[in-house]
Amino acid sequence: MFTMEAIVRHRMLLMSVAGAGAAIGFTWLVLSLRKKKRKLRKVGEVTQLIVYPIKSCKGVPLPEAECSVHGLRNGLLRDRHWAVSNEEKTVVSARHEPRLVLINSSSDQGFLTLSAPEMEDLKVPLTHPSTNEVVTSRVLGHLVQGRDCGDEASHWITAALRSRHVYRLLQFEDRMKHRNPKDEYVLYTENDKVAYPELSPLHVLSEAAVEDLNSRLEEKVTFRNFRPNILISGCGAYEEDSWEEIQIGRDVTLKRVMPSIRCLFTTVDPDTGIPHAKNEPLKTLRRRSGNHHLGKGLCKQMKN
Ligand SMILES: *[C@@H]1O[C@H](CO)[C@@H](O)[C@H](O)[C@H]1NC(C)=O
Repeated sequence: MFTMEAIVRHRMLLMSVAGAGAAIGFTWLVLSLRKKKRKLRKVGEVTQLIVYPIKSCKGVPLPEAECSVHGLRNGLLRDRHWAVSNEEKTVVSARHEPRLVLINSSSDQGFLTLSAPEMEDLKVPLTHPSTNEVVTSRVLGHLVQGRDCGDEASHWITAALRSRHVYRLLQFEDRMKHRNPKDEYVLYTENDKVAYPELSPLHVLSEAAVEDLNSRLEEKVTFRNFRPNILISGCGAYEEDSWEEIQIGRDVTLKRVMPSIRCLFTTVDPDTGIPHAKNEPLKTLRRRSGNHHLGKGLCKQMKN
């Protein structure tokens, strides 16, 4: 697929912190979409591009994607531009409702089609009338808007999750109030804006890092436990620690922000929606690194 090249400079100060958290993979921002003349060296290859249109729901592999400052998109399927919110107007993640990972989505002919085990598919319009309420909900305590996708979507999601709570599906629209990841970590700037991701619009993971983790796990995991947008091969485990910027193909330059801090979500089996009884792979990931206070706030306990 795409070749990746990187600028390698001195290690960021943050990397010493990175070693101390239960982290794997990195969060990235788009630096530039123009080709720059710079000294680059090949560091790997892109093997998969994945979007997660609904936060915490199933990833959709893409043969190609546009890289926007708000993350990957393929036509109307945009990364984390839909989210499920509860009665308290808090966006829920698979930490709280692990069955979210079983909900699949695809888009065609003006609809987002939702599917899940033992459920009839539901077609949700990709644009909603302005009479649908704009709901302000919380992601990690910070406010973000979204348009309510209607009662049918709410009933469907609630049934698919088999939950005693009532959920609503929200859709982020371009002119709505974004979240600023700077509210959570000082490494971001005022200009960085996202819809429903936890932090960065892009998440990059190397296959080698997953392989290294698997060498210490009895029950193996796949990259799907870590939900990257860009999966890369052709580099050694944690080699990506030393990249500050990467260029993908001719046009896309990304800037690394920080290690992706891991929470209980990684313990939810992407195929069954069942959290691992012994909190793996998180437990092993933490053992490598010891202290995990870095993940505070991102790693709230799963309620059920
Ligand atoms: C998700 O839906 C798409 C489109 O219908 C389908 O091609 C894909 O196989 C589904 N993925 C899973 C894991 O069920």
